[in-house]
Amino acid sequence: MFSKKPIPDSELKKILEAARFAPTPHNSQPFEIIVVKDEEVKRQLSEVGFRLNKKEVDEHFYWVRHTIEELETKKDGVYVDVLPKFVMDLQTNPKLVEDDEFWRKSMYLYSALIQNSQVLLFILYNQKRPGVGSLKHLWGIMSIGGVMQNIWLAANNLGISAQLVSGQLMNIESVRKIRKILHIPEKDYRLLLIFRLGYERKFGKSGTKYRRELSDFVHLDQFSNKIF
Ligand SMILES: Cc1cc2nc3c(=O)[nH]c(=O)nc-3n(C[C@H](O)[C@H](O)[C@H](O)COP(=O)(O)O)c2cc1C
Repeated sequence: MFSKKPIPDSELKKILEAARFAPTPHNSQPFEIIVVKDEEVKRQLSEVGFRLNKKEVDEHFYWVRHTIEELETKKDGVYVDVLPKFVMDLQTNPKLVEDDEFWRKSMYLYSALIQNSQVLLFILYNQKRPGVGSLKHLWGIMSIGGVMQNIWLAANNLGISAQLVSGQLMNIESVRKIRKILHIPEKDYRLLLIFRLGYERKFGKSGTKYRRELSDFVHLDQFSNKIF
């Protein structure tokens, strides 16, 4: 949860300037960003829940690591303690995935995250700024990754935390509701990312980072050769 300290517009502008300069194919800049600061709009967005089906829940658990030893060995996935309780409840009781009441209650937490954000950023892929060739959309969407990373780095550099909140985006009906609230035109603009921004009391105190070793994914000259 973030503190109540507001993000000054001057700081927000620096973050958006960083997004502006992200690399894109042919400098096509295929993105739009909706900044949400208004409390009523946040409230409406916070009421858009989501639910996962059994397959999606199983896909989540594939990446859950239950012990530090497992994390250290596999060097990927997310540690169980960062997950909200309702996600873990799904593991112990898989039948909950069908339970409307379970999802209604679980959405309190998600809703609080949205409402507690000082600023929300909705990043859209603008298909009216087309790239070239058969890979145009793939590259366009890739470049949204650059926008994402620039926002993250710029925010952190200013002592501001940025968290992606992707739950709603996995659900077609939820995305439809968000588009309606934000008046996103029906055609050509694809909602890809939602960031929540704010000041954290314990900024920079996040846990140890686990990542695959370089020797696991860097290859020398040919795929079969290790570099390190
Ligand atoms: C496309 C994308 C979606 C993500 N969605 C979420 C999310 O919904 N909630 C969240 O807390 N983190 C989300 N993350 C952050 C990742 O979980 C995080 O980067 C990863 O676990 C590694 O942790 P670290 O960045 O703290 O090292 C997302 C990251 C990416 C790139």
